[in-house]
Amino acid sequence: MKSTALPPVARSPGELRAEVAALRAAGASVALVPTMGSLHAGHLALVRRAAEMADKVVVSIFVNPTQFAPHEDFDSYPRHFENDRASLAAEGLTHLVYYPGVGDMYPEGFATQVSVSGVSEGLCATTRPHFFDGVALVVAKLLNQCRPDVALFGEKDFQQLQVIRRLVADLDIGVRIEGVPIVREPDGLALSSRNAYLTEEQRARAAHLPRVLARVAGRVAMGEDVGIACREGIDELFEAGFDKVDYLEVRREADLSPVLGRRAPDQTHRPARVLAAAHLGRTRLIDNMPVQ
Ligand code: PAF
Repeated sequence: MKSTALPPVARSPGELRAEVAALRAAGASVALVPTMGSLHAGHLALVRRAAEMADKVVVSIFVNPTQFAPHEDFDSYPRHFENDRASLAAEGLTHLVYYPGVGDMYPEGFATQVSVSGVSEGLCATTRPHFFDGVALVVAKLLNQCRPDVALFGEKDFQQLQVIRRLVADLDIGVRIEGVPIVREPDGLALSSRNAYLTEEQRARAAHLPRVLARVAGRVAMGEDVGIACREGIDELFEAGFDKVDYLEVRREADLSPVLGRRAPDQTHRPARVLAAAHLGRTRLIDNMPVQ
């Protein structure tokens, strides 16, 4: 049932466990939506899907320091806890917000690392080599602390989603991982908390990223050479005013192995995606699209 009251907040692993145990004792199934806050319509789509899949929805809000390199935007990452809680209340589908502090997640003496090879390599890891270890660590902890039936992640961070699927399968964490399609602005730009960093002019240019991805995906689907389509896609991004392109590549969805040459029609049973990361000034945008 929908309630527009502010959802209660658990601020430590112990409080979270007690609250989830009470939900379980009442016979409820539990979905977890892990976030770093600064919630937008993409996060609310995860919450809505979570509410379809389980009786109770827990949303975690934690800006995870281990997935930021020292030169990245951990300190300036937008934090709007009370606004986020109010947005969740307005949606009326969240039963509990988990909002731990850094010291609760990584207390004095913390010494464990989690690393997923294979799907964690290349793409975003080339320029952010620390990122997926940090994500794998915090997601393993969140899943362990909450023990949900299902956890939901956006497909915008498609490599992250595949890393988490691998982590959960390899460590026998008994949770279903659900990917939720990207939510886009009317001009196609994928919603992201980092879009807030864009100037008005950069924001206008940013909409070229999904357009270029759609063109490359269409060309690859028609059997054009993947290397040529990607190289021309990168040129188009520079022409549109992007300052730097980290990658624009086609990968198989299941294991993120590269798709090279021409994609033959008999490959359509092995779904593929065009994935890209590109910079406008100091803002790095990522996006991806399926090759239909
Ligand atoms: O996608 C995110 O918001 C974060 O990487 C996640 C999965 C919540 C882990 O900190």
